[in-house]
Amino acid sequence: MRHMLNPLDFSVEEIDRLLALADDIEHHLPKYAHVCDGKKLATLFYEPSTRTRLSFESAMLSLGGSVLGFSSADASSAAKGESVADTIRMISCYADIAAIRHPKEGAALVAAQKSSIPVINAGDGGHQHPTQTLTDLMTIHALTGRLSDMTIGLCGDLKFGRTVHSLINAMARYPDIRFVLIAPDELRVPSYIREDVLRARNITFKEVGNLDEAMPELDILYMTRVQRERFFNEEDYIRLKDSYILDRKKMKLAKPDMYILHPLPRVNEIATEIDDDPRAAYFKQAQYGVYVRMALIITLLGLEVK
Ligand code: NCD
Repeated sequence: MRHMLNPLDFSVEEIDRLLALADDIEHHLPKYAHVCDGKKLATLFYEPSTRTRLSFESAMLSLGGSVLGFSSADASSAAKGESVADTIRMISCYADIAAIRHPKEGAALVAAQKSSIPVINAGDGGHQHPTQTLTDLMTIHALTGRLSDMTIGLCGDLKFGRTVHSLINAMARYPDIRFVLIAPDELRVPSYIREDVLRARNITFKEVGNLDEAMPELDILYMTRVQRERFFNEEDYIRLKDSYILDRKKMKLAKPDMYILHPLPRVNEIATEIDDDPRAAYFKQAQYGVYVRMALIITLLGLEVK
């Protein structure tokens, strides 16, 4: 039985196969309408979500399966003190596959250890978010035709932003990837990413504070929200929340084919005036999220597509 807790749980070849499947799904949707007939997906969401939960549900419904679950800890027995380990044991009897989002780092791993069905990490605290990364990879590939030889700028909350950690993990395995990490000092990437991923793999990267200076060399700009819910005090959040605001003026510094990605939700970090710029790819990115999740469900359930 396979789980998806971290993008590194799949080899580069497996991820490439999954992206090829997602691409086929996008172009031949009706072919997949009954692949999951009779199967159930449980969505266990202990933290707020719009895109991730609904795209999982939409993915399973498009495959002919059904969904069950809860969308907040308050609405589950967690409110009565039940552990994730006990909940997943129960869910294993009710569903064929589960997607779990939890505020604690490692919660999905704990669930996977006790589960008898495949577990997908839909975000564990400030740690990892592998299905967002699959979405990001599909988007980058669709826009540029490649997953190699590019300079990727990651901007904003690189400390608590789990999408950033998973994306660096995944992209660092492709050839000739350079990272520009743009963050205020207090929101730099955690040392386990800097040392154990970037330095350990000899990846070209630099850490800078100024977005304007970084702009001209980027092929992809991955903007992120300052993760308010992970801050210890509100004052720090207020001080840091508007560190970067991408607007038309800043976009003048970018390459004509530099694409903007954002896992969403955005707060202030991308001005809405950018939304009509042909390089703004974040809404398209959200759409790819459904196809990659369909591909992941099929793959983890080991289903045949005829
Ligand atoms: C992200 C998350 O939950 O980490 N959202 C998402 O899944 N698309 C990013 C965020 O909340 O800022």
